[in-house]
Amino acid sequence: MTRTILPSRISSLGRLNRVLSGKTFDNSRFFLIVDENTYSHCLPILISHVDRLHQAEFIEVPAGEECKDPAIASQLWQTLLDSNADRDTVLVNLGGGCITDLGGFVAASYKRGIRHINIPTTLIGMVDAAIGGKTALNINGSKNQVGFFHQPAIVCIETSFLHTLPDAEIINGLFEMLKTFLIGNRSHFQSLCQTILSGSLDLQPGMIAACAEIKTAIVKQDPRDLGIRHILNLGHTFGHALESFSRHPGQTPLAHGTAVGIGLLCTLYLSVRKLGLDPSVLQNYRAVAEKLVTLPHYTLRDTEGILAYMRQDKKNSGGDICCVLLSDITAPVINLPVPENEIRDALLKIS
Ligand code: GLY
Repeated sequence: MTRTILPSRISSLGRLNRVLSGKTFDNSRFFLIVDENTYSHCLPILISHVDRLHQAEFIEVPAGEECKDPAIASQLWQTLLDSNADRDTVLVNLGGGCITDLGGFVAASYKRGIRHINIPTTLIGMVDAAIGGKTALNINGSKNQVGFFHQPAIVCIETSFLHTLPDAEIINGLFEMLKTFLIGNRSHFQSLCQTILSGSLDLQPGMIAACAEIKTAIVKQDPRDLGIRHILNLGHTFGHALESFSRHPGQTPLAHGTAVGIGLLCTLYLSVRKLGLDPSVLQNYRAVAEKLVTLPHYTLRDTEGILAYMRQDKKNSGGDICCVLLSDITAPVINLPVPENEIRDALLKIS
């Protein structure tokens, strides 16, 4: 069972210090996985607060998706073997979703599974990627093709790390937060929309904690993603396809969270038409999305390229493209087949 240290009035790193000084970690050796950004901006803060990490060995990997490579995982296994790391070893993953995916994968596989601690440093990591035990590597550029479910021993959410991030990274995380509140909490959805519409990207730690708690509760019900956890994919069938399509020549590359945010717009559009979602939810969300990013304009030809990716989505069934839609805020419907002409229509209505 994962212990989640949520932001509160008492420092999260202080609480992590107390947990790691306890009996459960008596015989542990710690290896810290960082990238060049978290090495400079976050590692000194972490080490200054957590005594047991003073002596940790650290391993630096490339920043971003580049680190989610079998060759990098293999280097990490070799480093652990060369250091005689045993099954009491703990990997501490300090970074965004790519670091927690890689570090979780290595922890799941080394000696058939060792403990790991996720310390997310991005907003998307704090509210989504670091929570829930999904780990993954990419194969020849194809995202998340191999992986394990391996729950972290601890997730420690320290919101002061957000001060090191550019606005674009905060915006990515905000879209995932909007998604989680759409499925899990109406008043937080409305209040986050108001904050964004007022022009502020300054988030209350309590809002981040609430979002992380919603995801944690969903994962607890369905840790291996066999049913109810699919609701977390709201906006993602479109989002993954838009992210892949945005790498085509002539397109503007979209970060994951932003692609999901645009995917949410298509999803809400379809939800109004197919499930009777209140149109004011779509209107409100559109205003928020326009405040955060410039919405792309897709041609009919572009929609064919996007549909080609959507046809490959892991959640499709019986040859149909399946989406999660909403009949109301907090009322998601999973595995809904959506005809391709309706998907095309939603994509053409983005802007
Ligand atoms: N990011 C979706 C999930 O963890 O299930």
